[in-house]
Amino acid sequence: MTRFAAIASAFAIPGEFVSVSPTGSGHINDTYRIAFAAAGQPAHYILQRINHHIFTDTAALMQNIQRVTSHLAIKLAGEPDSQRRTLSVIPTRDSLAHHVDPLGNYWRVYRFIENARTFDIVASPAQAYEAARAFGHFQCLLADLAAPRLHDTIPGFHNTPKRFAQLQQSIAADVANRAHLARQEIDFALAREAFTSVLLDAQLPERATHNDTKLNNVLLDDRTGEGICVIDLDTVMPGLAPCDFGDMVRSATSPAAEDAQDLARVTMEFPMFEALARGYLASANEFITPTERSHLVAAARLIALEQGLRFLADYLAGDPYYKTHRPSQNLDRCRTQFKLVASIEQQEDAMQRLVESL
Ligand SMILES: Nc1ncnc2c1ncn2[C@@H]1O[C@H](COP(=O)(O)OP(=O)(O)O)[C@@H](O)[C@H]1O
Ligand SMILES: [Mg+2]
Repeated sequence: MTRFAAIASAFAIPGEFVSVSPTGSGHINDTYRIAFAAAGQPAHYILQRINHHIFTDTAALMQNIQRVTSHLAIKLAGEPDSQRRTLSVIPTRDSLAHHVDPLGNYWRVYRFIENARTFDIVASPAQAYEAARAFGHFQCLLADLAAPRLHDTIPGFHNTPKRFAQLQQSIAADVANRAHLARQEIDFALAREAFTSVLLDAQLPERATHNDTKLNNVLLDDRTGEGICVIDLDTVMPGLAPCDFGDMVRSATSPAAEDAQDLARVTMEFPMFEALARGYLASANEFITPTERSHLVAAARLIALEQGLRFLADYLAGDPYYKTHRPSQNLDRCRTQFKLVASIEQQEDAMQRLVESL
């Protein structure tokens, strides 16, 4: 039996193992499409090796995913195509959510969602709309998730004041002797200290949120282009709804790469923002409060700032966290985020007016 057949045999998949091939372009987990044949009928599944270096509490993470996917399945029952609208965990033969192989790797299996794909780069406002609508719908379906709260698998994930304090420590320590190379960026960050608590001060309700709302975490239907299923649930945990929206704006509205050195192309493109806001509110208007709505634009500015603070702190600390291929890559990443923050600040009034009109 091959390695993959052996791993797959730990899961409660009916039939015989047929084949395995790598799929997707995720950067965190290793993802494979596996085929099984049951009674002559082929069926596909996703076999994923969970990155347990990044996600250290695998049991808590899988409990969150199981609770969320079970809840979604119940809420979606009866809808057309309901099986393609949520991930479904296939348990192990011992009824566990994941399997640990003899090498200590953590594996899980999902039902494969056919005739849909993810896109790494947002090709059009229509795609942005669909992805945002899907994330809003995801939050909406989880709005009545019963207690207890999900596990906080990454404590303080969007605690921006804490991220700010960590940056201040990196500046003071200056262990890599780089602070003099990042004077402008440090000043940009320090000037925005008061803003870092804008969401924490707003007394927003805690919800089950996705926390990795990039376009490539939504499967779009091949035929209709509809955002059919939100995937990549590793970071589902308690959070604030506007943070998910803010991270969409951060990751989808600038046409430049995250580590682009030519900052001229880094801008918050309004048509993309408009598509995200329309898509998100098309579904999220069903549940979000007026205070959450009025903080969506602030969240976009905040999440871009927060990501910039993190890149800058990592640069100053000598790149311990974010992998780099060149010495100033984390500073370049920080610069694109801060350029995006500045672009949002310039367009903030128009963005706010648009959100209020929807
Ligand atoms: N249930 C599924 N059905 C079909 N394709 C999937 C499914 N789950 C994941 N994929 C594909 O695998 C890719 C990586 O999965 P993802 O969970 O996002 O991993 P990562 O955390 O590495 O980004 C996705 O972009 C998607 O193309
Ligand atoms: Mg992903």
